[in-house]
Formats: sequence, structure tokens, C-alpha cells
Amino acid sequence: MQYQAIGTIHTPYTEATGSPYQPVETEERTDRSFCIELDELYIDGLERLDSFDYLYVLYHIDRVKPSRCLRVTPSWTGGKITVGVFASRSPIRPNPIGLSVVRIFSIEANRVYTSPLDVFDGTPVLDIKPYIKDLDTKNEANYGWIDELPDRDHLILHIKGIPHGY
Ligand SMILES: C[S@@+](CC[C@H](N)C(=O)[O-])C[C@H]1O[C@@H](n2cnc3c(N)ncnc32)[C@H](O)[C@@H]1O
Repeated sequence: MQYQAIGTIHTPYTEATGSPYQPVETEERTDRSFCIELDELYIDGLERLDSFDYLYVLYHIDRVKPSRCLRVTPSWTGGKITVGVFASRSPIRPNPIGLSVVRIFSIEANRVYTSPLDVFDGTPVLDIKPYIKDLDTKNEANYGWIDELPDRDHLILHIKGIPHGY
């Protein structure tokens, strides 16, 4: 199996600065710091994407080594819990594929400007797909093992990418 990147994600984050664990929700539509730049040959594939509010972004988490380790201790839990890699959103996994849902702010030629993404600048994009109301929204979804953590409410702020001062 071999995939080619279809473009590159631009963000203000580097390995030195770090990036959030998950996308941070924002309504600041004038912020143009986050953008998915597709290779020009894919430009026709963007037609009508602007009719959607949200987008799935699938990308190659390129600055980690693929790992065969099947148990992970997510850093945001403060080392409190170890779970199976497939029960986690850890970037270190057998196939380092990342998934983020972000808001579409605008599309200009081959550039899709979005709400903040949780990736380093230069991350290669594998695919983008529209997030579709009802089809993709599961109102009964739960927090899984995160519900069992003592400081659940605080940790959920991390998962939702909600900035907080503690
Ligand atoms: C926890 S992962 C979650 C990614 C995605 N939202 C998901 O659920 O698949 C996000 C973290 O991956 C790391 N990361 C982001 N871009 C990366 C890249 N290109 N290479 C390696 N690590 C990256 C950063 O430390 C960031 O905080």
C-alpha cells in the first residue's frame, strides 16, 4: 500500500513550540494561521467543499516513528492510565495517521483556511472529507475510559482543546 500526500498543512506550531493535543475550537474567522494547501493538481476536487461548515482532515503524522507498542499512557492523563493504542488518540501508533475535525473558514484557489489544527507546520495531508450533519454526529457518544478518571472534567478540557489556565 502506498499513498501520496495531496498537500501540506500550515500551522504556527513546530516541534519546538509543540501543538495542542486536539484542535482548539474558535470563531475567529479572520485568523489565517491555519491552512491546508493542496497541490494544484487537486484543485478541481475542492468544488462545493465550501458548502460545508466542517471538514475531516487525515494526515501523516510524519515526525514520529511508527510504533508496534500496543499500550500507551497518554501524556495529558499525567501518566495516570495506560490503555490500548486503538483506544487512544496517541500520534504514536502502528500507522501514524492523524484525524482532525476543523471548521472551514474560506477556500481560496488551492488553499483551505480552517480553524486551528493540532499539527506541526508542514504535516503532509492524505485526504480531506466533508463532515456531514447527522451522518457524522453521534449524539449518544460517550467519553469511554475517560469517564473513570478522577479529574475527568479537567481532562475533557484537554480533549476538546479548550484553553484553560490550570
Ligand atoms: C494527540 S495527536 C492527535 C492528532 C489527531 N487529532 C488525532 O486524534 O488523530 C496531536 C499531537 O501530535 C503531535 N504532532 C502533531 N503533528 C505532528 C507531526 N507532524 N509529527 C509528529 N507529531 C505531531 C503533537 O504533539 C500534537 O499535540
